[in-house]
Amino acid sequence: MDKKIIIAVDGFSSTGKSTLAKEIAKALNYIYVDTGAMYRAVTLYAINNGFVLNGVLNEDDFLKKLPSINLKFQYNTNLFRSEIYLNDVNVDEDIRSMEVSGAVSKVAALPPVREKLVEQQRSMGLDKGIVMDGRDIGTVVFPDAELKLFMTAAPSERATRRYNELKASGKAVQYEEVLKNIEERDYIDSNRQDSPLRKAEDAIEIDNTNLTREQQFNKVMDIVAGVLKSEKV
Ligand code: DC
Repeated sequence: MDKKIIIAVDGFSSTGKSTLAKEIAKALNYIYVDTGAMYRAVTLYAINNGFVLNGVLNEDDFLKKLPSINLKFQYNTNLFRSEIYLNDVNVDEDIRSMEVSGAVSKVAALPPVREKLVEQQRSMGLDKGIVMDGRDIGTVVFPDAELKLFMTAAPSERATRRYNELKASGKAVQYEEVLKNIEERDYIDSNRQDSPLRKAEDAIEIDNTNLTREQQFNKVMDIVAGVLKSEKV
């Protein structure tokens, strides 16, 4: 019962990785880590400090400032979830803007950024009992994770979900803009040189285009139960 594992959840943007990862972490009483939030917070730093102008990233000057970026997650007891802090300021809300979404893939493609964040992510998994979602968790961060999931869904379905989320939170967006952003991020994330998004050979693919949240959760919890029972753990 006390066996703890690492669960890596990777996949394309807006495939519901974080929703699923959070649900599994809650059910297992594991720690949940949203690594996309870390790349977004670093991007917000770049934007706020003038390193992104008209969508162009001033890489060299930005990278010099990398050591002064400090990220941490802190549990919010009122919201029952962790929130991300950038240099001790809560940026959990600000990192979801379209401006950050538009620049994050460029920032996430920089090897020094990845090196810094991967190191911090690995240290969070030392005691296992963690569900981490991202793009390179099963391939780079935890290649020995006991369970790796790879999530996919049709781009139009993902754009609809993201559009509804943004609308619900009061953001003025167009569906076409959201779809374009998702397709662009898929392309950059899958084609970058350093740690491109790809399914680990031993990952289990979950296509949730036609699955409800509950069906997906039950399917994954069955898989988790199987892994916990297996001799591997
Ligand atoms: O999961 P998300 O959409 O919030 O992630 C934001 C961006 O960060 C995404 O476009 C790719 C990048 N990312 C990454 O390169 N590696 C990760 N482990 C997580 C996110």
